[in-house]
Amino acid sequence: MAQPPADHFKKLIAHSKEYGFIFQSSEIYDGLSAVYDYGPYGVELKNNIKDCWWAAMVQMHENIVGLDAAIFMHPKTWKASGHVDAFNDPLIDNKDSNKRYRADQLIEEYIDKLDEKIGKEVEKAAKRFGDTFDEELFRNTNPRIVEYRQKAESIAHRLATYMSASDMAALKNLIEELEITDPESGSRNWTDVRQFNLMFSTQLGNIAGEEGKLYLRPETAQGIFVNFLNVQKSTRQKIPFGIAQIGKAFRNEIVARQFIFRMREFEQMEMQFFVRPGEEMQWYEYWKNARMRWHLAMGTPQEKLRFKDHDNLAHYANAAVDIQYEFPFGFKEMEGIHSRTDFDLSSHQMLSGKKLQYFDPELNESYVPYVVETSVGADRTFLAMLSQSLVEETVPDAEGNDSTRTVLTLHPALSPVKVAVLPFLHHKDELTNAARDVFNSLKFSFQCQYDEHDAIGRRYRRQDAIGTPFCVTIDFETIENNTVTIRERDTLRQERVPISRIEEVVRQKVDIRSILSGLS
Ligand code: GAP
Repeated sequence: MAQPPADHFKKLIAHSKEYGFIFQSSEIYDGLSAVYDYGPYGVELKNNIKDCWWAAMVQMHENIVGLDAAIFMHPKTWKASGHVDAFNDPLIDNKDSNKRYRADQLIEEYIDKLDEKIGKEVEKAAKRFGDTFDEELFRNTNPRIVEYRQKAESIAHRLATYMSASDMAALKNLIEELEITDPESGSRNWTDVRQFNLMFSTQLGNIAGEEGKLYLRPETAQGIFVNFLNVQKSTRQKIPFGIAQIGKAFRNEIVARQFIFRMREFEQMEMQFFVRPGEEMQWYEYWKNARMRWHLAMGTPQEKLRFKDHDNLAHYANAAVDIQYEFPFGFKEMEGIHSRTDFDLSSHQMLSGKKLQYFDPELNESYVPYVVETSVGADRTFLAMLSQSLVEETVPDAEGNDSTRTVLTLHPALSPVKVAVLPFLHHKDELTNAARDVFNSLKFSFQCQYDEHDAIGRRYRRQDAIGTPFCVTIDFETIENNTVTIRERDTLRQERVPISRIEEVVRQKVDIRSILSGLS
């Protein structure tokens, strides 16, 4: 397979639009910043991703059940959860460019540059020493690398301390001390750093002022916490058990670039796992590994995934790790796994005055359970899937000459369309009628597409570009003996099979079981 070209990200964005995966929201009005719409193939791919998550979490675990809580919640929810007081990002403006940044991200980018310098030193040395190169020894002893690393660690530690203490003045001082410049203009003329709350608010009915203030939820998790006892009692679950939910979340992100990576409206797939106090760390380890296995089962190569412990814990967590994915712009968070202690349930219990406790029959006592959370972005998973599957490669055409094709090598279970049914010629009724019959029988089982326009080669290319794993071609031999040609997207192999076998051949590859079986 060809290597992703340097301009891979630009191509991915262009491909997403051209082939109906993602459109800018309200494009005819010049778009709405950091808000996107999923087109016809995008919605299918996203639904398939969500189905794979739901099946892996709910269907595969007898002690995990689902929920679909409303987006609007009582405003006290967000007071109890700490979001009203603490769901802030540190904002800084550059006075010359009038550009707005997150102060913590500017500092993190500075640390990333030190890491890049270390990487370059290692690369140079590997070339110089060849086979005798001992990378670990070099990293631990080379004075320049040791200096870069110590500097990076010291800055990361200070950043975490200042963020935990909400010390905005110290963040500003650090930016000045490191002589960080505006990435766009190179200016160092910064405003003070100030806290910016990320929640969107709106009004309930005609109730004016604080009384009627509602928030669009910034995470789906709180809908699970406030329903903890409703779900536990109605499903008679015993601890440990989990509640899973997929839904929209909203954040007024300060800097929202990088396409669908950071949006103001996005979708989360979250699961809260309720455990006995004191057992949370063992479940935290369990879910870390289980979630990594899910990403691998979805077809993501191991080298594109890594764990990254949090230096700076969210207000609710006592341990947290990200599963990072190597996006076209570097390794970034795709999923968070958090040990949330009893913070949320205890806060809701206190503010609502309603008990949120579980009676543990084995211990013969009641307690507020501890919670381990897994939270993955549907959109970031989507971006990862597109990014790793969009490939340009050279393949032989019908005459055996080299030709270039753009193909989405998605896991077949995720592909928006599973089978394309193509009559070899569109002006021959016997071919189009037979093709329609095949389409009409397959559509009960799979998302199919019928296409009779253009030469067959072009139709194959269109299906490759949306990641369709199988093309079924109906030709004159079909009329004679009820067989068709099935072309496989990845191998380009063409096989003649009876019409009665198409479903079996396709199902083998596109069944979600091929993903779920990789979880154990
Ligand atoms: N309930 C925990 C929670 O919300 P988080 O780390 O803030 O934790 C979880 O978010 C996941 O939601 C992230 O790993 C990411 O995949 C996704 N996410 C967060 N903010 C996002 C944004 N602005 N745009 C797209 N996805 C986002």
